[in-house]
Amino acid sequence: MSTLEYRSVGVSFGGVHALDSVTFQVESGHVVGLIGPNGAGKTTLINVTTGVVAPTTGSVTLDGERLAGRRQHQIARAGVARTYQNIRLFPRMTAMQNVIVGATRIRHDPDLGAFIFLPAVRRARLELEEHARYLLHRVGIPRDQWESNANVMPYGSQRRLEIARALAMRPRVLLLDEPAAGMNPQETAGMQALIRSIAGEGVAVLLVEHDMPLVMGSCDRVAVLNFGELIAQGTPGEVSRDPAVVEAYLGSEVSS
Ligand SMILES: Nc1ncnc2c1ncn2[C@@H]1O[C@H](COP(=O)(O)OP(=O)(O)O)[C@@H](O)[C@H]1O
Ligand SMILES: [Mg+2]
Repeated sequence: MSTLEYRSVGVSFGGVHALDSVTFQVESGHVVGLIGPNGAGKTTLINVTTGVVAPTTGSVTLDGERLAGRRQHQIARAGVARTYQNIRLFPRMTAMQNVIVGATRIRHDPDLGAFIFLPAVRRARLELEEHARYLLHRVGIPRDQWESNANVMPYGSQRRLEIARALAMRPRVLLLDEPAAGMNPQETAGMQALIRSIAGEGVAVLLVEHDMPLVMGSCDRVAVLNFGELIAQGTPGEVSRDPAVVEAYLGSEVSS
């Protein structure tokens, strides 16, 4: 059982409060949705969790252990993995290689190629490759794409590959930044099933997403940010009936 906990997290960039006193939790086995209009601070919260941005106030802990203030690779090794709003794969590496890099990044393995004559290294490489194949299968990437370079894979597969690469770190916490952005309804439905199955294996999932059917269909709880403040949290049903949430969304539509 793991718990990711945000307590009074604040971030300011110059004078702009990107996040203001944000408090909530994500438990293992659960999917918590984080929604809110553009600029609400959703990506910033992911960046705070992974050590890209330091919080100005408050704390982020995983099972009571402080994350904020540690370096990105330390946070990754503590069990926190993420995907990016704008896909960030290694474009000229194959799907397999992208997943293997995801695993070796936190294992700090030596250059496996150079030491391949050592039985232990050979075994480690075979294990990595086997786990990578398992993950590619797990996220639903067709086998005939496993040796394709990432940049020529279909868009939906690239989104799934980002998740496979994050899972290669065997995370306790997975932060997904708009994983269904640009997907059609059928691909989005597949993403929903994948997210639920990842949580089903005991991972704590934070899902930042604009697609409301996906949020409503995959989340146990939803937290709503508006101008950096948490204006509501509850079950998907509670949140969608909340007057402050309706107001924030209507307001953003009127102004944009
Ligand atoms: N590195 C940064 N430097 C300055 N301002 C930033 C930075 N990152 C985000 N912001 C600002 O913080 C606010 C929240 O942005 P962001 O977290 O990207 O929102 P969301 O993901 O909800 O659309 C915005 O006003 C954005 O311009
Ligand atoms: Mg964002």
